Amino acid sequence: MNIYQAIAARRTIRDFEDKPVEMDLVEQIINAGLKAPTNNHLRQWEFVIVNDREERGRLLRVRNMTDKDECEAMLDGFGMTDEVQRDMYRAAMPRQFSMLYNAGCLVLPFFRVRGPLMQPSCLSSLNDFASIWCCIENMLLAAAAEGILGVTRIPMTDESEHIRQVVGHPENYVMPCYVALGYPAKDAVIPVQKVIHTRDRIHMNAW
Ligand SMILES: Cc1cc2nc3c(=O)[nH]c(=O)nc-3n(C[C@H](O)[C@H](O)[C@H](O)COP(=O)(O)O)c2cc1C
Repeated sequence: MNIYQAIAARRTIRDFEDKPVEMDLVEQIINAGLKAPTNNHLRQWEFVIVNDREERGRLLRVRNMTDKDECEAMLDGFGMTDEVQRDMYRAAMPRQFSMLYNAGCLVLPFFRVRGPLMQPSCLSSLNDFASIWCCIENMLLAAAAEGILGVTRIPMTDESEHIRQVVGHPENYVMPCYVALGYPAKDAVIPVQKVIHTRDRIHMNAW
């Protein structure tokens, strides 16, 4: 698979086959992550893999939003009017717990922060945060090249604190998201991607 094919193959899935991802492959995927560009050249990224189901149960304070009315009310509250976007949330919300719990491999990436992440003084104070997302995208693309898909979820504030207690990571490391990886279930729901015409997004010389 060349890079363009891997980019096309990478889709978010939230329904996994009950099949683990071999550790050699996980290492290869993380190795691809560790090749991503980084603001300060140091790649101060660490990865906790939680594949023990009991441990996952202890770790995950996330719920599937199965009540359709609750979901619609939430989307209305967001002021969301695009039906393609709403359909993605309709697929995603009932799977927020199960996608993490059932994934073949659950990776918790961490990046080192130099100061309080939520009080940036300028764009470059967000460089550590930006760099870890380059790492995560490399991982998702490498995984896709191996037939492994997945999903990222941003932890809510109380989830982050709980994770710190369960995982015991240092205070100066932050988990930007969960990365759930695995083999897609045969009936995995894959929401339609919003169609974007590249030329419509390109502005020559000025906006
Ligand atoms: C920064 C970021 C945050 C995301 N947060 C969540 C999330 O909390 N829960 C979830 O199910 N998917 C999450 N996603 C996955 C997106 O829903 C998904 O990438 C998007 O709908 C586009 O679909 P595609 O990845 O299949 O192209 C997130 C993706 C990104 C890049």
